[in-house]
Amino acid sequence: MKPKMVIGNWKMNKSFEEADDLMIAIGEQLAGLRLETGVVLCPPYLYLELATDLAQEAEFTVGAQNCSELKNGAVTGEISAEMLAHLDVEFCIVGHSERRKFFHESNQTIAKKTDILLESQLIPVVCCGEVIEERKAGQHFEVVEKQIKESLFHLSKEDFESVVIAYEPVWAIGTGETATPEQAEEMHAFIRQLIEKKYGTETAYATYILYGGSCNAQNALELFSQPNVDGGLIGGASLKAEEFVGIIEAAETVIKEN
Ligand code: 13P
Repeated sequence: MKPKMVIGNWKMNKSFEEADDLMIAIGEQLAGLRLETGVVLCPPYLYLELATDLAQEAEFTVGAQNCSELKNGAVTGEISAEMLAHLDVEFCIVGHSERRKFFHESNQTIAKKTDILLESQLIPVVCCGEVIEERKAGQHFEVVEKQIKESLFHLSKEDFESVVIAYEPVWAIGTGETATPEQAEEMHAFIRQLIEKKYGTETAYATYILYGGSCNAQNALELFSQPNVDGGLIGGASLKAEEFVGIIEAAETVIKEN
């Protein structure tokens, strides 16, 4: 089993001071743990510089939650991939279901953002996942297949190998209703098999496929023990240092036992 990855998506939460306190607390709790797990914090844009400064001395790296699909220019209010790269941001979430819903992001937009992130040597964390109606109608595999193919399968094998995928069933986000380990494993195995068909076995095995949706320190161990679940994209539970570190510890336990 390869090392796990745990990414905290803070969404639109925390004041500057609270963000500072939380990053310091997470840094302190991770200090000296000699982690195998990759830990990434994705605070709001305004706190990225603070995060990358603190990350120099800490066991985490930093990601953004979004970027513009355009390179630069007259696009009021947007932030480019290049700007993120200049701040030493290493990851960027794209295609989160909240952006698909509130900002009408399509698979095509997500494909453009992925391209522009790769051009700036950032690692895109590309989200996919079905809504509850789609799952109830038995369409979840079809929906996720379309999202993955349309947002990622234009990439060369080399570029694809820099991408992280996050499966986040929309009905599990912020609801407390986690996908069962079996539901997560089934979808992750399906995604890996899509990758295998397109890019081959080695690439499929190496690709990180994270689970997101009401993952917490209590359920992380069971979820991360599934062979195709390579870690988690964590929302609410990443806003409390102990809870988030508990999830990272679960990832470490799984790796040590395998
Ligand atoms: P919750 O962990 O709060 O359910 O959110 C998951 C998520 O959307 C992470 O991107």
